[in-house]
Amino acid sequence: MTNMGRDTSTIAMDTQSFNAIAALAKEEAGLVLPTGKMTMVQSRLRKRLVETGQQDYESYCKFVCSAAGAEERRYMISALTTNVSHFFRESHHFDILRTRVLPVLLQKARNGERIRIWSAGCSSGQEPYSISMCLQAAAPELAQRDVLILGTDIDPAILEKAEAAEYSEQQIAGIPDDMRRNYLEFDKAKQTYQVTPAIKRLVRFRELNLLRDWPMKGQFDVVFCRNVVIYFDPETQASLWPRFRQRINNDGWIFLGHSERIADSALSLFEPNGMTAYRVAGSKASSVGKE
Ligand SMILES: C[S@@+](CC[C@H](N)C(=O)[O-])C[C@H]1O[C@@H](n2cnc3c(N)ncnc32)[C@H](O)[C@@H]1O
Repeated sequence: MTNMGRDTSTIAMDTQSFNAIAALAKEEAGLVLPTGKMTMVQSRLRKRLVETGQQDYESYCKFVCSAAGAEERRYMISALTTNVSHFFRESHHFDILRTRVLPVLLQKARNGERIRIWSAGCSSGQEPYSISMCLQAAAPELAQRDVLILGTDIDPAILEKAEAAEYSEQQIAGIPDDMRRNYLEFDKAKQTYQVTPAIKRLVRFRELNLLRDWPMKGQFDVVFCRNVVIYFDPETQASLWPRFRQRINNDGWIFLGHSERIADSALSLFEPNGMTAYRVAGSKASSVGKE
């Protein structure tokens, strides 16, 4: 029987292997995997057993922890990350973007300054494409300016989906009707929706692990880092806030997911300014329009 046809459904993960994999996931990607997630980890890595030809989780674990398992560690992290995303998820951030951030950015762009927005942990692209749709709707001429939305993620497999920019009927549910008409093309043969070139043109994707170096040059006007740090422990989260501060310009914003907060210890760097929205502390307008 080939590896692909192998029945792995009865192979169970032992606690020691789980602990070693959890430690590796923390070390490599910051992911916290409590013991309660053992069944989830086992099922997500079942395919990796087959792909690597390992007989059980113990031998998989030895392999993935070894020097020879360096490439497999990327696949393992890819299997362990949660990639759920939606267009216009947590719409209050897009309201802030439209009403408070974009007017300032548009002026900057018209003055010839560069605009940079970072979707950190962009998953399959819905977040950066939603941002791009907002920008295009506000000012189509932005395509002629120095404007870029950077989407980064640790997971190369999910970035391929983001690049493909092809979504099902169900996945486009959050997109307002006028934007669907303007920014999606229906592929009859595949029965999927393709994001238009005008929207894709503003977006670039790169593989990036938030725990490692951030090789981008220059600062960002806005960072979306939503539903990403929730998988990290408080120490890892705390290590990120000063790094984000360094990368966001003095008037900039950072948006987090609904159950994420900037720790009190970092509130000297960012001030709350709306629901899970933060503005760089001391920025000109950080005290205006707080909710
Ligand atoms: C739940 S998705 C969030 C997607 C999007 N931001 C949203 O809110 O809809 C979390 C993403 O974070 C990525 N991720 C997890 N750990 C990461 C790390 N250490 N560095 C970069 N991305 C990471 C995952 O691969 C996943 O695609």
